[in-house]
Amino acid sequence: MPARTPATGASRRQFIAASSAALAAGSLASSAARAAAAASDARLALHGGAKSVPAPSPRRRRWGDPERERLNAMLTQDSLFYWRGPQTILALERFRRICPLKYAHPCSSGTAALHIAVIAAGIGPGDEVITSPITDIGTVIGVIYQLGVPVFADLVAGTYNLDPADVARRITPRTKAIIAVHLCGNPCDMTALRALADKHKLVLIEDACQAWGAKFRGQPIGTLGHIACFSLQQSKHITCGDGGVVASNDDRFGPRLQRSGDKGGDRTRPGGGYEAFATNYRMSEPQAAVFAAQLERVEAIAAQRARLGDLLTEAIGAVPGLRLHAVHAEDRCVYWFYFFRFDPAAFRCDRAEFVKALAAEGAPCSAGYIAVPLHREPVFQKHGFFAGRWPVKEMGLTTMDYTRHQTPEAEAILRTGIRITIDEGMTEEFIHGVAAAVRKVARHYAA
Ligand SMILES: Cc1ncc(COP(=O)(O)O)c(C=O)c1O
Repeated sequence: MPARTPATGASRRQFIAASSAALAAGSLASSAARAAAAASDARLALHGGAKSVPAPSPRRRRWGDPERERLNAMLTQDSLFYWRGPQTILALERFRRICPLKYAHPCSSGTAALHIAVIAAGIGPGDEVITSPITDIGTVIGVIYQLGVPVFADLVAGTYNLDPADVARRITPRTKAIIAVHLCGNPCDMTALRALADKHKLVLIEDACQAWGAKFRGQPIGTLGHIACFSLQQSKHITCGDGGVVASNDDRFGPRLQRSGDKGGDRTRPGGGYEAFATNYRMSEPQAAVFAAQLERVEAIAAQRARLGDLLTEAIGAVPGLRLHAVHAEDRCVYWFYFFRFDPAAFRCDRAEFVKALAAEGAPCSAGYIAVPLHREPVFQKHGFFAGRWPVKEMGLTTMDYTRHQTPEAEAILRTGIRITIDEGMTEEFIHGVAAAVRKVARHYAA
């Protein structure tokens, strides 16, 4: 089956051909020729040769009139509180258009969304939650606060997402949930993870913080597990500075979301007291106003990033020693960033030198992502989550020892990964330049 770009329905190959034709026909022709000429100059830019990417990518405009309009509307309101706030109502209505889930609750961050999900899922002392070791620490903060135990499973070499076979190996009678992190906006294997969750009666939480607008086999990310979590932090596809959403279709968990992020109180029953315990993770109307406006942009942003990332894969092509970002042919990866792997045995340089040469060519790149898998961070190694202590361990509710936890593929991914920035302001021409840079640097250092 040919690789497909879900955004257009065209095959990736057709897409490249079409974009190349557009380059040749349009005003881009001369700059494309320049990029080709630069690429044929085998001398690295690092050594004084011509740059493969002659100019930086155009700066994207992330907000403007739609956000201003919402904020102005908000300023006419008497209350800026979220409950029954018009901006919040509008934001959630628009959210449901891209992620049609019955229950949706806005909150203060992706970390908050994940903590709320964990509370709603009923995770308690000693309960194990299996997740990815390559993620933002916000994925597991809520688990630890609920006195649960994060268990890190290993990852698939090319997608950087949970390996369902390793998840299965780590399931114990204490396992209560899986948090599937769609890293870089690349969908996890939700068919396999859902099958495991169903078989072992686990709650499947989607960490879609990096995956706004992504699709798994055509279905919106967030609609495949039991609870979905999104981030609106500044670096994400859409933002309101900081914020998040937690959502569910499940009648067991959905009704708990609001109170799990709002001090335990059920606002549909004023004066109803506190049957649950939670902290204050509320979003306010100013954030909701910006969020609502940003939701009008999300599909275009997701589609463009999907197109550009897929184009980068096609345009780099097969290069010995490089493993490109692997995306299932029927999925839409929305490339929070593009991540490829470098095999040190195939080159006469190390990763740092390769990245230096690539950056000199004008490619926006850096080595790796987080420094080490999460469980190798000092706070995990010392089991020092609460004033240097971990009550769950002291109470004998877990035998977890993070100093002995192994995820070899995750280690290798972080050691060999090279990250390329993708953003929706980039042009196809720019991506062709980046691809030329990768090929040129790889050719130069080939062993
Ligand atoms: C995969 C993932 N999970 C969770 C989070 C936490 O989100 P926030 O920074 O909004 O708390 C992030 C954000 O960096 C993330 O990328």
